[in-house]
Amino acid sequence: MFPARLGSHLLVKMDRFKKNIEKLKSHCPGNKILLMVKADAYGHGLSEIVEFSFDQLEIKEFGVATLGEALTLRKNFPDKTFEVYVFSDLQFQHKELRKQYLENRLIPVLSHKDDLVEVLSDKSFSQMPLCLKFNTGMNRLGIHHEDTGEVIELLKSRGRNHVFHLMTHMANASMPMESNNRNIWQRERFSGIKEAFKKAGIEVEGTSLGNSGTVEQSYSLDETHIRPGLMAYGPTSLAPQHRDKGWWHGEIISELKTKVLNTFEVKKGDPLGYSSVPAPDSGVIAILALGYGDGISTHYSGAHLFHKGVKGKIVGRVCMDMTYVLFPKGTKIERGEPFVVWNEEVDKFMELAKETNTLPYELVIQLTARVPRIYQLV
Ligand SMILES: Cc1ncc(COP(=O)(O)O)c(C=O)c1O
Repeated sequence: MFPARLGSHLLVKMDRFKKNIEKLKSHCPGNKILLMVKADAYGHGLSEIVEFSFDQLEIKEFGVATLGEALTLRKNFPDKTFEVYVFSDLQFQHKELRKQYLENRLIPVLSHKDDLVEVLSDKSFSQMPLCLKFNTGMNRLGIHHEDTGEVIELLKSRGRNHVFHLMTHMANASMPMESNNRNIWQRERFSGIKEAFKKAGIEVEGTSLGNSGTVEQSYSLDETHIRPGLMAYGPTSLAPQHRDKGWWHGEIISELKTKVLNTFEVKKGDPLGYSSVPAPDSGVIAILALGYGDGISTHYSGAHLFHKGVKGKIVGRVCMDMTYVLFPKGTKIERGEPFVVWNEEVDKFMELAKETNTLPYELVIQLTARVPRIYQLV
């Protein structure tokens, strides 16, 4: 389908993304999706994923980490009416940058009392929808759950009786929701916060706490929204020993493809590349056109890759532009052949993350701009 001369690239298959989202929607019919697209949509391309999700999958709310990511979306799609939530690097201390939220209709996720005070004190923000994120046990960003009463008083004193979205974030969503203590506390604390707002007569329009691991365990579906990230792109975020707790079986939406630049036979002990690392065994070496300049870190040494069903091992030192893979003696692999590093198979993708000491979140994100993203539309 693609010319053989095409070098390393990440093929992003929108049909698989569509299938994942449809599966998610059918499991969570009562929830609106606030799709997390930070970090370049987890490495798949911010604008491409957002455009497709909005135009074809009826997703109308997106979550990014930084003001810069949010502004990119508004600049690229000035006429699209989706909402953009900015979760962490709000740049709120700078008055000029704060104005960008108003001018670009962005929603700051207020995760610190100081930011809330800024919004409440600035008259130009009086119509700004209030989105508050509480720290119920994640201990990263978030207004402390014990400050709920103070926040409610503050809102009331400024005549604000409506919160657009109230949220928290789960620290241990890869662990069982029903038995992990922190998961239990976090959910209880969030219920307490919602209850306190209700008692105080503050109307709360939207609520959410469900990231992938939570949703994969069918928790948090009683909130108005879910906030999936990883699962939409295919992988599971459940820890291996808890995978049986989840219903999610997604497809990896990307395929990392490269080319074999060279092949040669080696004997055990033959020196390979920089530092003359000895080949651990005799066999056939394939040199792949991917290195740490593409985001394939030196930590990949020792991990396994497959070619036409044959298992090879990354040996030697990954260099800037190339990687050595050792296959068993007699393996038929030729210079110029396309080579698939990963495809839709979740288990192999998860195993590669484990063997490279990374997270499934990182594998795609860490690919550099030198690896072009190519989109296969539905
Ligand atoms: C606040 C918040 N919500 C939702 C998500 C989505 O998490 P996941 O990718 O595990 O679904 C993230 C990602 O880290 C997040 O920071």
